[in-house]
Amino acid sequence: MTDANVAKRAAAYAAADLVEDGMTIGLGSGSTFLFVLERLSERIREEGLAVRGAPTSTATAEAATAKGIPLVSLDEVTRLDMAIDGADEVDPDKHLIKGGGAAHTRERLVAATADELIVIVGEDKMVHVLGEVFRLPVEVLPFGWTHARRRIEATDCTTQLRKRDGAPLVTDNGNWILDCAYDGIREPAALAEILDATVGVVDHGLFVNMAGRIVVANDDGDVRVVC
Ligand code: A5P
Repeated sequence: MTDANVAKRAAAYAAADLVEDGMTIGLGSGSTFLFVLERLSERIREEGLAVRGAPTSTATAEAATAKGIPLVSLDEVTRLDMAIDGADEVDPDKHLIKGGGAAHTRERLVAATADELIVIVGEDKMVHVLGEVFRLPVEVLPFGWTHARRRIEATDCTTQLRKRDGAPLVTDNGNWILDCAYDGIREPAALAEILDATVGVVDHGLFVNMAGRIVVANDDGDVRVVC
């Protein structure tokens, strides 16, 4: 296993061990989150843990089903006990960039329904300023997307349409992703407010004041929790 995967697994396992019998939880997306499914599946087999999960992507739904984890849709529940999810960057105020896997719109909906969003990351994702390295993913409607792009670029970034196999990547919601390069996002709340109000934007990957505990692991597998 690579060092990065050691960290991902350690953080994911520590978070999965916070899940209590009978809970209904939000299931995040991404490579780190897959280790949560691995640990939950182990706990179901070994402890008879009763847990249900609301998935944030079709990829997670498929992976959870393959691991024997019962699913619920978000509309079947009024609240979730917790959501566990990865992130692309975490700043000292626990604001996040998400959406590297293009799932951030559903991830926000699931996180907003949960009593707590528990974030799982390797130390490399902990940054001083968001957006100095990672580009902010913004989901846009394909209809009139060049106008959304122009409005987004007015927030001082350059954008790139995310592609797969030469064609625009299509999200689970049928939309496209613009990856937006900023010279650091020093006021994430202000930028989030502008993007929230931008016509043609479905949702963006800035998660401001949404995270609860951040479970961080290093390449040796040591885990710390930022509250
Ligand atoms: C999915 O769209 C993202 O928000 C992921 O949660 C995030 O990109 C972290 O993914 P990895 O765990 O694969 O780094």
